[in-house]
Amino acid sequence: MDFGAGFLVRGIGQLLTMDGPPGPRRGAARGEIGLVGKAALAVSGGRVLWRGPEKDLPAGSFRNLREIDLQGRVVTPGFVDSHTHPLFGKTRQGEFAMRAAGADYEEIAAAGGGILNSVRATRAADDSVIEANLRRVLSSMLSLGTTTLEAKSGYGLDDETEIRCLRILARVAPTVPQTILRTFLGAHALPTEYAGDPSGYLSFLKTEVLPLVAKEGLADFVDVFCEKGVFTPEESRRHLQDAQGLGFRVRIHADEFHDTGGAGLAVELGAMSADHLLSVSPENIARLASSDTVATLLPGTALFLNKPFPPGRALLDAGAAVALASDYNPGSCFCESMPFMVNLAVCACGFTVEEALVSATVNGAAALGLSETKGALSPGMDADFIAWNIDDYRCIPYHMAVPDVGAVFCGDEIRQPGERIV
Ligand code: NIG
Ligand code: FE
Repeated sequence: MDFGAGFLVRGIGQLLTMDGPPGPRRGAARGEIGLVGKAALAVSGGRVLWRGPEKDLPAGSFRNLREIDLQGRVVTPGFVDSHTHPLFGKTRQGEFAMRAAGADYEEIAAAGGGILNSVRATRAADDSVIEANLRRVLSSMLSLGTTTLEAKSGYGLDDETEIRCLRILARVAPTVPQTILRTFLGAHALPTEYAGDPSGYLSFLKTEVLPLVAKEGLADFVDVFCEKGVFTPEESRRHLQDAQGLGFRVRIHADEFHDTGGAGLAVELGAMSADHLLSVSPENIARLASSDTVATLLPGTALFLNKPFPPGRALLDAGAAVALASDYNPGSCFCESMPFMVNLAVCACGFTVEEALVSATVNGAAALGLSETKGALSPGMDADFIAWNIDDYRCIPYHMAVPDVGAVFCGDEIRQPGERIV
């Protein structure tokens, strides 16, 4: 039998298949990593053909596949980073330094900095600059093991720049190894030309921008920043219902700095995910737990802004499906490292090592509606995986801030050759 191009990866010391119940993982299953010792993994046509204990490899099979011996290393699925903002004109290290000297993130934003600072820079930037920023971070993400991600617009806030950013994303996405889902975040802030008129801005998005995004197929999801001083829950509901009316699935930046009830709104609207949740109320933790909305935690943002970490343990114990993502963006978390997010989840948000790894793979995929193809290594799923330079998976968060990612495999190719691996 000719399998064509592909790999037979042998000598895997620990294979985390992430086998478990289908869909978002929660409750008793929240830490199921499907660990197989002394394992092998056969890949062809970009899909997992077979995986299991090496001693059970069907005799004589997979002879046409290229053999790779990992000599006892760990293999996990690639990370699924379900919340990033990589489309912008300039970084904001000046504001970072101001915060380091005592300024507050929300005060900087209220004074016209923050998101609106990035909006000015993005409107003024050439396509080539936005594209170069995007490509640079995608390549860095790959080197850190992210094989699937979600990317949001939201630094244009006018029809021209929002559409321009989404078109750049549409052009770049098919040229990189990762799978990228796209989110329209026109409701990220109120642009200065609509100051004092959120209703007018939302009407503009509804009549001028959303239909164009839908017509050109430029986004998979629509998101809103539901926050005190940004969009109220009522405004957020209206915008997301407009989006749902056009067939978009929705997600919400919810309860980041203040408990405005964003998480409850996410449940009410059947959103894919409620993200941030630093200030989520106990009532809304319970509502998330009894819903299909994934609770997406972004611990890098809490660290970067010196805010309290999100209540990971409480969400996990309540039975919510919890995902971890980077929130990579120029203002509130300039970090694209998923291994570091796993570390922060364990060290600062009460996750076990296994829960953190499930949240950064299986549940990230669920938050993007990709449970059938991404986040785990079952036969038939996409063969996106990391061969780590470690022999014990617990070293992933244990080695703080130092990612031991070796080789990264994505689709049917080795996208990053690992030192001493291939
Ligand atoms: O997810 N919370 C809202 N927006 C982004 C980044 C905002 C910024 O550019 O400062 C976030 O943190
Ligand atoms: Fe965000």
